[in-house]
Order: sequence, then C-alpha cells, then structure tokens
Amino acid sequence: MKIVNATDAAEALPLPQLIDALQAGFVAGCHVPERQHHSISMTGEPNATLLTMPAWSIGTKEPSFLGVKLVTVFPGNTARDLPGLESVYVLFDGATGAVLAMIDGNTITARRTVSTAALAASFLSREDAHRLLVVGAGHVGSLLPEAYCAVRPIDEILVWDIRHAAAEALVDRLTGAGMNARVAEDLEQAVRHADIISTATLSTEPLVRGDWVRPGTHVDLIGSFTPLMRESDDALIVRASVYVDIPTAIRSAGDLLFPVKLGLFTAQNVRGMLAGLCRAGARARDSDQEITVFKTVGSALADLVAAEMAYKRLLEA
Ligand SMILES: NC(=O)c1ccc[n+]([C@@H]2O[C@H](COP(=O)([O-])OP(=O)(O)OC[C@H]3O[C@@H](n4cnc5c(N)ncnc54)[C@H](O)[C@@H]3O)[C@@H](O)[C@H]2O)c1
Repeated sequence: MKIVNATDAAEALPLPQLIDALQAGFVAGCHVPERQHHSISMTGEPNATLLTMPAWSIGTKEPSFLGVKLVTVFPGNTARDLPGLESVYVLFDGATGAVLAMIDGNTITARRTVSTAALAASFLSREDAHRLLVVGAGHVGSLLPEAYCAVRPIDEILVWDIRHAAAEALVDRLTGAGMNARVAEDLEQAVRHADIISTATLSTEPLVRGDWVRPGTHVDLIGSFTPLMRESDDALIVRASVYVDIPTAIRSAGDLLFPVKLGLFTAQNVRGMLAGLCRAGARARDSDQEITVFKTVGSALADLVAAEMAYKRLLEA
C-alpha cells in the first residue's frame, strides 16, 4: 500500500489536468452511495463527527477503483489549537478489493474542490471573465486563483476574508507567484467589480448580496454544507440561474434552503447539475447578461477521480 503525504499528493494533482480528469469522470459517472454522518458524543466539548464518503467505478470503467474518504470533525480542537478537521482517502483496486493507497485527504479535498469549481465556471462564466474575487482565504480559497487561471484569462484577483491578515497573507503568496492580486478592503465594492466571485468560508450570514452582483457575473458558492450555513442572500438565488454539483446540495445547503423556506425558490428552479454540464460539454449561459450561480457541497465522485489520478501518476513517477 502506498502512503501518500500532502506534498506528494499535491504534486501528483496539477490543477489543469485534474480539471480535465473531473470532466471525464462526471461524464462517465460512478456509484456514489449516500455519505454517512456519525455524531460522536464528547465529554465537556461539542460533539465530534465521523463522515464517510464512498464511491466506486466498478461496472462503469476498466480498470475500476473503489475508494472512501474518512473525515473526522472535532470542533473541540479549536481550544487545543489543533485543526478541527482531518481526513484520509483509502483507495482500493475495483477488481480485487486490494488496498492500493492511503492518500492525504485534505489535499484531495482542496484540490478537487477548486478544480470542480473551475470546471463548472468553464461552462457557466463569460469567456472573457478576467476579474476574480476570492472570498475566504483558507485552505480552499488559497487554491482558487490557480484553478480559475486554468480556465479563464484571469488578470486581476481580489481577496477578501473576515480575517484581514489571512487575506494579506494570501495576496502576498499570489503576488510572489507573479499574479496581480490585492486585498479587497470593501466586500460590496469588490463584488460589484468582479466577473467571477468564489466563496469558501464557514459563514452563516450572507456575504455576497444579489443586489451587488453585476449582470453577467458568475458566483461560485463552496462553503455552506448545512442548512444553517450560507454565503449568499435570497436575492442572489432568486436573480440567478442556479446550478449544483450534486442533488445533495439542494437538500443540505443553507444558500438554497433559506429561499426555499420562504417560498422564493424550489428544487425545480435548479437549472442543472455538473454531470449534465460536462456531458453537454458546451457553454451553458444564455447571454452575457445572465447571472449564474454554482453551489457545491462536494462529491465523492470527485474524490475518487482525484485519488485515482494521484495514484496513477505516482506509480508512473
Ligand atoms: N463544496 C465543497 O466541495 C467543499 C470542499 C471543501 C471545503 N468546503 C467548505 O468550504 C469552507 C472553507 O473550507 P476551508 O478548508 O478553506 O476552511 P478554512 O478554515 O481553511 O478557511 C475558511 C476561511 O473562511 C474565513 N471565515 C470563517 N468564518 C467566516 C465567516 N463567518 N465569514 C467570513 N469568512 C469566514 C476564515 O477566516 C478562513 O480564512 C468550509 O465551510 C468547508 O466545509 C466545501
């Protein structure tokens, strides 16, 4: 069994190639059972969670693979100054069930997440979109500029974070890598300026407001995965053509559930899923004035595609 640490996994997952692999993976499809959340009672601290995300390509392609991402969420770790979330991906041979690799799960997650966002934007954003606003400069947000540069001619990057220092640190990294980036001091102004807005925060309050978003903008909402989390307001969801990565997004993300509760939006209003966009393989926006939203909650299919790609590239190397 190969043990693949974060550095090796990142090297084995260059974003442009991962975006292409994800497109092929969403077209081919695979078996993705419902993910399981197990709540674990802890003494004197918030409940922990074990999340398992399985998927397999057995019966859909050869050679086939089976994999599962195991994620632990220990909110009490904040008080211990430790990360609240840890994960590992276990990859098996789809023909024999043999264990092939154990891969750093955080790297798989972050890289497949930004690549999925960029893949969707390749169908939904204007082809001339060049001003990117990143909202949330954490693990996922930090990788978004590189992913978007692979699909659109991004020449201006604004970074906003509730922690100003985090935005500054990311801007330093991006400018150090030769990108034209600066900290957005005013979120509203930055939203009004951007062609693509990508949010990856833990917010429970709307950050991107529909009234601020210019016609023709593409908004990519990554952060919210529970009914109480949201990064957009009702006005944005009502104004926009909304796409999701997988059906779970409609059932679990506050961005969509808040307007659903108010009767402003229904599941039938969702224009499409990422698999459909990939199969059509063509620009999906109706006009350069349309506002598009892509809401993701993350897919075990994308994890499997990334794990298979990392494993194969490491074997070749
Ligand atoms: N859709 C997906 O596929 C997917 C995949 C991975 C992570 N996520 C989600 O994306 C979010 C970000 O993940 P991450 O690993 O980058 O986390 P992170 O903790 O590394 O970064 C989060 C960033 O958001 C900022 N932030 C926190 N709370 C905020 C608030 N209330 N308002 C504004 N900004 C706030 C923080 O300052 C931080 O810089 C999480 O909610 C995570 O669950 C989604």
